[in-house]
Amino acid sequence: MTILVTGAAGFIGSNFVLDWFSQSKENVVSLDLLTYAGNLENLSSLDNNPRHHFIKGNIGDRELVLELLKKYQVRAIVNFAAESHVDRSIHESKYFIETNIIGTYNLLESARSYWHDLGQNLREGFRFLHVSSDEVYGSLNPSDHPSNEKDPFKPNSPYSASKAASDHLVRAWFQTYKLPVLTVNSANNYGPYQFPEKLIPLCILNALNDKPLPIYGDGTQIRDWLYVGDHCSAIREILINGRIGEVYNVGGWNEKTNLEVVEALCSILDELKPKSNAKSYSDQITFVKDRPGHDRRYAIDVSKLEGELECKPKEAFESGLRKTVIWYLENLNWVDHVASSEYQHWVKKHYA
Ligand code: DAU
Repeated sequence: MTILVTGAAGFIGSNFVLDWFSQSKENVVSLDLLTYAGNLENLSSLDNNPRHHFIKGNIGDRELVLELLKKYQVRAIVNFAAESHVDRSIHESKYFIETNIIGTYNLLESARSYWHDLGQNLREGFRFLHVSSDEVYGSLNPSDHPSNEKDPFKPNSPYSASKAASDHLVRAWFQTYKLPVLTVNSANNYGPYQFPEKLIPLCILNALNDKPLPIYGDGTQIRDWLYVGDHCSAIREILINGRIGEVYNVGGWNEKTNLEVVEALCSILDELKPKSNAKSYSDQITFVKDRPGHDRRYAIDVSKLEGELECKPKEAFESGLRKTVIWYLENLNWVDHVASSEYQHWVKKHYA
């Protein structure tokens, strides 16, 4: 049997595919449009693996997706494909509506058409797992309880609104058509292969290049941080044992302010790659104009995942951050390759 992973050359998608091959004997079809954040190099260790098939394509291309589902007799779809960067959604929301909403809709329709024609056993075993975000729950006050799966959606950015819309579509395809779906709402991921527009890799690279470490506003905004490997393990578990139609939050119980995160990575860099002038990288921290509509705090309650599926994150924030910094230090070639002219253009425009 085979699973279809969409957005497979992106950050979380590629970590998932690599992790899958280290844990499972099942084949994988990787689908990715290879837009700016997708990088085939992430999957290069699978180049000669006969169990892996890479296809460049769009989740919105129904004909292609249906053909892949039939050709490879896919028994599950894991949908990572998305436009994921909040700041980009503020500058240009169009791609977020197209990929995250219309793309998910088309993918659901391809899945439904394929699933509908399967024999009974295969129909029962089929799964459509949709990967989403804790941002759909909106911003929390300091005294609010961490968001749980029953909380209402209150998305604030074009990005989170598009993910919330996609989650609603997935739910509706279950309620209306009984398509066997699962939804995962995850906290901020970090780890290897993350595109350097996101806070952690951006600050690692800026630190090494003697550039400012830009902190939006006062840096007291809070995010919950989850090592990407723990997210991948949770998805595997949910795919096997999750209850159809259910939503599972995945997080690290690990709330940190942005300033705490950047200071922690500066002190790891101070130790692993001390500056020649013996100063700390934290001197490069620079407070910049805040993100419009910047959510103050995200925190998610993962008791359902822990209680039902006995699934807990293994990585502590300190050790995960250290692994991440080491990965970037050892993979500066990868960084050079992803830092394309499009990336340089984005950095110049956004931080101008
Ligand atoms: O919470 C899950 C979400 O986490 C995912 O759904 C999104 O796809 C993912 O991008 C991430 O969203 P954030 O907006 O939280 O991630 P980002 O790395 O862009 O920012 C993390 C925090 O750091 C946020 O409060 C904004 C702040 N920040 C970010 C950048 C890029 C800065 O202070 N300076 C920066 O230059």
